[in-house]
Amino acid sequence: MANKVLRVGVAGLGEAATEFLPDYAGDPRVRLLAAADQRTAARERFTAEIKGKAYPTVEELCDDPDIDIVYVSTPHELHHRHVLTALRAGKHVIVEKPMALSVEDCEAMNREAEGRGLQILCGHNHSYDAPVTRMREIVRSGELGRLRMINTWNFNDFMVRPYPDFALEMSRGVVLNQGPHQVEIVRLLGGGMVRSVRAMAGSWDETRPGEGAYACYLEFEDGTPASLVFNGYGFFDTAELFWWIGEGGTPRYPGKHAGSRRNYRQLRDLDPAERERLLEDLKTRMRYGDVGLGQHAAMPEGWEKGGFRSGDGVAQ
Ligand SMILES: NC(=O)c1ccc[n+]([C@@H]2O[C@H](COP(=O)([O-])OP(=O)(O)OC[C@H]3O[C@@H](n4cnc5c(N)ncnc54)[C@H](O)[C@@H]3O)[C@@H](O)[C@H]2O)c1
Repeated sequence: MANKVLRVGVAGLGEAATEFLPDYAGDPRVRLLAAADQRTAARERFTAEIKGKAYPTVEELCDDPDIDIVYVSTPHELHHRHVLTALRAGKHVIVEKPMALSVEDCEAMNREAEGRGLQILCGHNHSYDAPVTRMREIVRSGELGRLRMINTWNFNDFMVRPYPDFALEMSRGVVLNQGPHQVEIVRLLGGGMVRSVRAMAGSWDETRPGEGAYACYLEFEDGTPASLVFNGYGFFDTAELFWWIGEGGTPRYPGKHAGSRRNYRQLRDLDPAERERLLEDLKTRMRYGDVGLGQHAAMPEGWEKGGFRSGDGVAQ
């Protein structure tokens, strides 16, 4: 596919799509050609804003002969099915993290791609970020000696972001929703397979479903150890250790987590059904269709900025 403009079809025009499609749309190496979503609002906006073809099902999208690559950004539990559909239609695939919900499903997806001579990439991922690739270069070069151990922490506000319970449940908490980024960076730096994994996860807020924290110890095949700690309850912010540069590489507002917690506190005491209805409505408004590429939904009255979305910027 060298020097070719890659024609991309998007499966699932949700919140992730609003955040990541501007990069696709602005890159001369790719052309956003089509998309599939079951929501009419998303399809209509895609046709009007991107001038692309819009299908109600992923199957129809994958049958489109003009598409080279399908970017799968439907909910986690559909990744396995939608990736296989795309591969069987002869398309290369980029699938959002987590790749799938079980190792068996991931292996089946890899087998399908290999058997057909197609590429499958899990992304977006931070192993392509310049600081991470540079760290890998330094490790490989040996200029600082042999890699002895890897230690990584990430403390963010994932569990107090304004997601409805159903979306948090769908996300499987921080282990499957946030962990893939951390594991993938560590795996790149470690440079191989691991020979052992030991971990435990915690669910420490009874008002939020799912696991919000974990501690994990890995050993690579060459004996290099790695420790991974994640806490998504929105207290400490590890960006403080990195000159207030956030995970996305942009400046992080130091009050972001406190803002998220204050916003969430306003919801905690609501009747659970009322809270869920409010948050579901908000989640809908964050998806492509209700908002356009790169746009953010308006916040409810009285909510603080900063803690609203997963990005790092202040003006959110
Ligand atoms: N890499 C990242 O940093 C990042 C960030 C956000 C989300 N994500 C990933 O992207 C995926 C989607 O997350 P989201 O927050 O955008 O979810 P979302 O619920 O906002 O969006 C999912 C979209 O898929 C559509 N959809 C669902 N089932 C469908 C079907 N059968 N056919 C066609 N369309 C269907 C929905 O209408 C919705 O528009 C998740 O796996 C999540 O982990 C990744």
